[in-house]
Amino acid sequence: MATIELKNIEKSFGTNKVIDKFNIKINHGEFIVLVGPSGCGKSTLLRMISGLESVDEGEIHLDNKIINNLIPSKRGIAMVFQSYALYPHMNVYENMSFGLKNEKLDKNEIDKKVKDASKTLQIEDLLLRKPRQLSGGQRQRVAIGRAITRNPKLFLFDEPLSNLDAALRSEMRVEISKLHKKLSTNMIYVTHDQVEAMTLADKIVILNQGVMEQYGSPDEIYNNPNNIFVAEFIGSPRMNILKIDKGKIKNGNTINIFNSDIQFNGYKFNDDIYLGIRPEHIKADNSQDIKAKIKIDLIENLGFDKIIYSSVDGEEFRIKTSSNIDKDHSQISFSKENVYFFDSNKNRIKN
Ligand SMILES: Nc1ncnc2c1ncn2[C@@H]1O[C@H](COP(=O)(O)OP(=O)(O)O)[C@@H](O)[C@H]1O
Ligand SMILES: [Mg+2]
Repeated sequence: MATIELKNIEKSFGTNKVIDKFNIKINHGEFIVLVGPSGCGKSTLLRMISGLESVDEGEIHLDNKIINNLIPSKRGIAMVFQSYALYPHMNVYENMSFGLKNEKLDKNEIDKKVKDASKTLQIEDLLLRKPRQLSGGQRQRVAIGRAITRNPKLFLFDEPLSNLDAALRSEMRVEISKLHKKLSTNMIYVTHDQVEAMTLADKIVILNQGVMEQYGSPDEIYNNPNNIFVAEFIGSPRMNILKIDKGKIKNGNTINIFNSDIQFNGYKFNDDIYLGIRPEHIKADNSQDIKAKIKIDLIENLGFDKIIYSSVDGEEFRIKTSSNIDKDHSQISFSKENVYFFDSNKNRIKN
């Protein structure tokens, strides 16, 4: 168990500022998922925490001690990479014990740690195999096992499941979640996959071009996105966003949507705005207060759910429904209650 705090962390590569004034406080045992598009600075941030990359400005605190200048092996942090980074000429046992041998641990103690970790990850039968004799999922288990044997205060995961196929990815996701419950060690997990973020995290950090857009529980982020970037990033398919010119707004809160006037009590709009509605909040009937006619372009059948790609007044509109629907269906509706508003700078407007 540990507490981690990053204070005003900044990092540039040449003139390219990759992390800008990043602040976060992580409590004992929390599982934090850092999510954002490729290139937004996720790996750089993890590498600075682990000590593989230097910090330009700011402080990294681990259990209230500044660790900026501590070498990686002294930080009590273990990192698991997307590429697994196993030694190809060593078998699983040797890969898992290598770091401990370097630390000159007693042989029996090493043996116990490797056996315990391999039991936790159910790779006891694989200890004598070389990495090339393992599947992707097994390799990733070994890499996680190697991290566990170090008994770290903090685990860092950098897109550990990205190289696995979809079925294995969801299986390993559950494994990692169980592992966290069992070890109750802090974990910081980096991914570009919002499903991993939503399912694994106690708290999610949304990162965009080196800047934290939002920090909160999965429910907070899903229900109360700060801005359009967050709203579109979390949720699948992504939230529908309609631009509404101020000419379509009367008396500050009555909006002409799809040729009907809809009043939104408690709001006072005085500029162009954006209206957001999640695909899963749209019904394939006319039971809700905001109604529209759609033209269906494509139906993706996911079994229980269907994703409908349609257009309304020429704009793409995504709908997720479990209702039976055919390509000639045209009536949809959604409730005022489920609508989000954003200002012309794409920040959330609350009533
Ligand atoms: N060693 C480096 N030298 C120069 N630029 C780098 C280096 N490492 C990362 N970058 C740049 O920093 C940005 C963030 O990279 P990274 O942290 O790897 O993003 P992510 O992990 O979110 O995909 C990218 O623009 C990348 O090209
Ligand atoms: Mg990365």
